[in-house]
Amino acid sequence: MKVLLTGGAGYIGSITAKALEEAGHTPVILDSLVSGPRAFVRDRIFYEGDVADRALLRQIVAEHPDISATIHMAARIVVPESVEQPYMYYRDNVAKSLELFDELTALGLPRVLFSSSASLYATKEGFEVTEEDPLDPGSPYARTKRMMEQVLFDLAEATDLRAIVLRYFNPIGSDPDLESGIYVKEPSHVLGQLVLAARGQKPSFTITGTDLPSRDGTGLRDYVHVWDLARAHVRAVERFDDVLAAVDSRSTVINIGTGDGVTVRELVASFEKTFGSAVPITEAPPRPGDVVGAYANVDRAASLLDWKAELTIDDAISSALSWADRRQEILGYE
Ligand SMILES: NC(=O)c1ccc[n+]([C@@H]2O[C@H](COP(=O)([O-])OP(=O)(O)OC[C@H]3O[C@@H](n4cnc5c(N)ncnc54)[C@H](O)[C@@H]3O)[C@@H](O)[C@H]2O)c1
Repeated sequence: MKVLLTGGAGYIGSITAKALEEAGHTPVILDSLVSGPRAFVRDRIFYEGDVADRALLRQIVAEHPDISATIHMAARIVVPESVEQPYMYYRDNVAKSLELFDELTALGLPRVLFSSSASLYATKEGFEVTEEDPLDPGSPYARTKRMMEQVLFDLAEATDLRAIVLRYFNPIGSDPDLESGIYVKEPSHVLGQLVLAARGQKPSFTITGTDLPSRDGTGLRDYVHVWDLARAHVRAVERFDDVLAAVDSRSTVINIGTGDGVTVRELVASFEKTFGSAVPITEAPPRPGDVVGAYANVDRAASLLDWKAELTIDDAISSALSWADRRQEILGYE
């Protein structure tokens, strides 16, 4: 099966491209390289351009009439930047996605898999969230994701388009062959920060928020190995029509996580075990907008996709550490 993969030069996109290939499918990558590195495209079919470029979309489909589904991952993804530059986020994540969906429908490519986020969920007692739980997107970035979910539901009602929305929890780790991984120089997420502190690239790892209402006072997340996440996309494109038939709808939402919540202190303990020595830690108050967090109820992923996470948090930590050793070779910077 041929799959149009927007954002295929990015962190999750490049690893999803590999998972598609390993399952016998062919990704066709559309990426503007606004953030993803050229090196992650490797020798795949690649169109450098914007998702809202309708002429380019027509060219892609003319050259690959056998594309049967689209995975739309291309987006701007940096939460603080979205607070500072909301116009850029609404333009790129909302307005451009709308153009893409309209053109795909016109071109007779109605199957869309959309990358959404667990950052949409409102805080819930017990921390386990199902797809039906209340949402409270806390940043312009998260609101762009929520808006596009709603756009997809409305388009699915009114047009030929059909949509599966995957709400990712917290992807960590690297490509199993260490060909891609986190590429930003100063990753802001917790495992990236731990790797920097462990390698002496920053003086210490700062736990932001030690008085939150979790079992040890620190934030809780559902860390899913990016390779497991990539495999979930393969299942979703392979079963696209069956999934929507099973829910008797033209669109649906599926959580993609492990089903386990891990606190920052627990993550640090696992990291130190895998790394083999202690990491210098400092503690600080929560940053504005920090939330205690959530973990996924994964019943729908199991029943609709026959998918569950197989890799452990230790697998993800060791792959992130190995990638940190390797990335200079692939990206040209540490
Ligand atoms: N990384 C996470 O923790 C996380 C969590 C939940 C959801 N997501 C979603 O998953 C998707 C992939 O995230 P990622 O971490 O791989 O990000 P990434 O920044 O590595 O990848 C996004 C890719 O999209 C490309 N892109 C951006 N705007 C484009 C445009 N207008 N046209 C063409 N290409 C464009 C970028 O060049 C980049 O290669 C995003 O939609 C993101 O919102 C990510």
